[in-house]
Amino acid sequence: MQRNTVVDEIKSRCNIVDVIGRVVPLKKSGSNYKGVCPFHSEKTPSFVVSEQKQIYTCFGCGAGGDVIEFVQRYYNLDFMQAIEKLAAEYSIDINQGMFRRDEKKDRLYEINREAASYFYETFTSSANAGYAYMQKRGIEPRILKRFGIGYADSKWDSLYQHLKRKGYDEKTLLELGLISYSKGKYYDKFRNRVMFPIINTRGSVIGFGGRAVGDDSPKYLNSPESAVFLKKNNLYGLNLTKQEIGKENCAILVEGYMDVISLYQAGIKNVSASLGTALTENQAALLKRYTNKVILSYDADSAGRAAALRGLDILYALDINVKVLHVTDGKDPDEFVKKNGKEAFLALTKKALSYADYKIEHIKREKDLSTTDGRLEFLKEAVGVLRMLSPSGADLYIKKIASEMKISEGAIRMELYGNEVSGGMHAFSDIGRQTGSENKSEKIKENSVTALEKHLIKIVLTDVSYYHKVAAYSYFFAGSPAGLIWEAIKASYKEGEELSVPQVREKLENTEQDILDDILENTMVAGYEQQVYEDSIKKIELHELTKREQEIKVLLSLADESENGDKIRELTEELMEIQKMISEQGGSQQ
Ligand code: CTP
Ligand code: MN
Repeated sequence: MQRNTVVDEIKSRCNIVDVIGRVVPLKKSGSNYKGVCPFHSEKTPSFVVSEQKQIYTCFGCGAGGDVIEFVQRYYNLDFMQAIEKLAAEYSIDINQGMFRRDEKKDRLYEINREAASYFYETFTSSANAGYAYMQKRGIEPRILKRFGIGYADSKWDSLYQHLKRKGYDEKTLLELGLISYSKGKYYDKFRNRVMFPIINTRGSVIGFGGRAVGDDSPKYLNSPESAVFLKKNNLYGLNLTKQEIGKENCAILVEGYMDVISLYQAGIKNVSASLGTALTENQAALLKRYTNKVILSYDADSAGRAAALRGLDILYALDINVKVLHVTDGKDPDEFVKKNGKEAFLALTKKALSYADYKIEHIKREKDLSTTDGRLEFLKEAVGVLRMLSPSGADLYIKKIASEMKISEGAIRMELYGNEVSGGMHAFSDIGRQTGSENKSEKIKENSVTALEKHLIKIVLTDVSYYHKVAAYSYFFAGSPAGLIWEAIKASYKEGEELSVPQVREKLENTEQDILDDILENTMVAGYEQQVYEDSIKKIELHELTKREQEIKVLLSLADESENGDKIRELTEELMEIQKMISEQGGSQQ
C-alpha cells in the first residue's frame, strides 16, 4: 500500500471516538463527544471529539488534530509508530509498498550503531584522552553512558579496520561520512574526538558529532547529511528526553550537545538541541509532537540572540507558546548550570521572556531612545510586533509600552489602528506596515471593502473612459480585497483597452467574485459617474491629509520639547496647514 493510502485507510477505519474513548471517558454532547483533556489538567471538560469530522480539539489548552495525531501525542510516538500501533490494533496491513522497511536504510543504521558501540568501547575500556576530557568537563559516568558517549582514537584507521572486519563495504562507510579516501587510502574521519551519537526518536543512530579533545579545528565535526541523517529533521537528545518533555509539557531548546548533557545531569531533563544549525520548521514541528511550550535557551552572545529571534518566529508561527531565556552567568546553559545549579536555572526559566517581550526588548536595545527618531523607529517596529498578537494581547502591550516608554496609549493605538480609527480605510494603513501583510489584525478586515472602493470599481466597470483616472489612485486598493479586483480589471484592460465583466470575473477567486457581484448589483453610479468620481477622489485626498495629520500627532507626542524645539515648530506648522485644508474640504468625514 502507498503511504497515503495507508493513512487514509487508518483514518477511515479507526474511528476517533473509539480510539480516544478507550483512554478518555467521553460523553455525548450534542453532535460531539466531550471529556476531560488528557493533555492538561482541568476539572470541567473542554476536550471535544467530533465523530463527524474525525478530529479532537481542546478548548482549554489548544491541543487538537486527527486520530493519528492523538495517538502520537497521547502515547508519545512518532508518526510511523502511531501508524503501526493503529494498524496493529485494527488489523490493517501496512507491510507493503512504501511501508515496507527500507533495507538500505536499515543497513546504514546498523553500521552507525556498530560505530557507536566501537567508540563507546574505546571510551570505556582503557584510559584515553576523550574520557579524561569529559571528566574535566564534569560529566558523570552514568550520564556518559546514558548518552552513549564514545571516543574516536587518534590512530588513522581503527574504526575503518573494525568495520571492514565486520564486512561492511567502503562505499557505504564513505556515504555515512565515517571514513575518507585520499591518495589510495581509507582513513577514519573522526580522530581524537569525543563522540556524541545522534539518535532519532525511534532509537536509530543517524549520525555523530565529534568534539575535538585538543585545539583541533573544527571544534565540532559532524557527520555529513546522508540518507539517514537530515539535520533539519532531527534534534539532539530528543530520543532520551521526549518523555520528560511531554510530562513537563515544556521543552528547553539549547544550542549545543554539552548544554543538553549538562542540563540533563543537573536534573533538567526536558531539554534538546538543534544540531548546530538554525532551528528549522521541521524541528519545531517535531517538538510540537510532545509539547506546545518551548523555552529557547541559546548562548548569551550575539549569535545566540540572533538565533533566538529566528527561532521565536518559527515556533510562534506553529502556534507554540515560546519564551526566551539567556543565561546571566557564563556563556551558555552548560556553564551556567555547572556554576549555579538546577534551581538557579529553573528560576531563569520562570523569568523567561514571552514572544512579544523578547522582541520588544530587542527593538529597544537596538534603538537610541534618547532621540525622537530613535523613539519613532522603536514605536514603528514595536507596533509590527503588536500586529502579530491577538487584540487582547496587543492591548496589554499597548499599556505596558505606554507606561515604560512614556508614550501615550493613544499614539500607540494610532500607529496600530490609525487607519481604522479614521474610518476603516485600509489603503491608508501603511504606517508601520513593513512587518508584512500576513498578520492577524489584518486578517480581520480582509473581507471588508469600503463604499469608496466599491464606487471606484463600479465607475470603471460602467464607463471604461474612467480607467486611467482611477488607475492614478489605484494605490488606494492595496491590501484590500478590492485590490485583487482592481488587478483583474487592470489585466483585462491591458488585454484590449476595454472591459468586459465576465472577463474580469474569470480572473477572480470565489470570494472576490462574490464581492464583485455585490458591487455590480448594489452599488449605483449610472448617470452620476463624474459626480461620484470627483467625490471619491476628494475623499481619498481628505484621507491622505487625515493620515498625515495623525502621523504628525504621533511625532509630536514623541518629541522632546527641550531637545526638539525646531522640529516641533516645523511639525506644528505643517499640522495647522493640514487641519486648515481638512476643514476647507468639509471637515473630518466619518
Ligand atoms: N557546532 C558545530 N560545529 C562547530 C561548532 C559548533 O556543529 N564547528 C554545533 C555543535 O552542535 C555545538 C553547538 O553548535 O554543540 C554549539 O556550539 P558552541 O556554542 O560553539 O559549542 P559548545 O557546546 O559551547 O561547545 P563546548 O562547550 O564543547 O566548547
Ligand atoms: Mn555553547
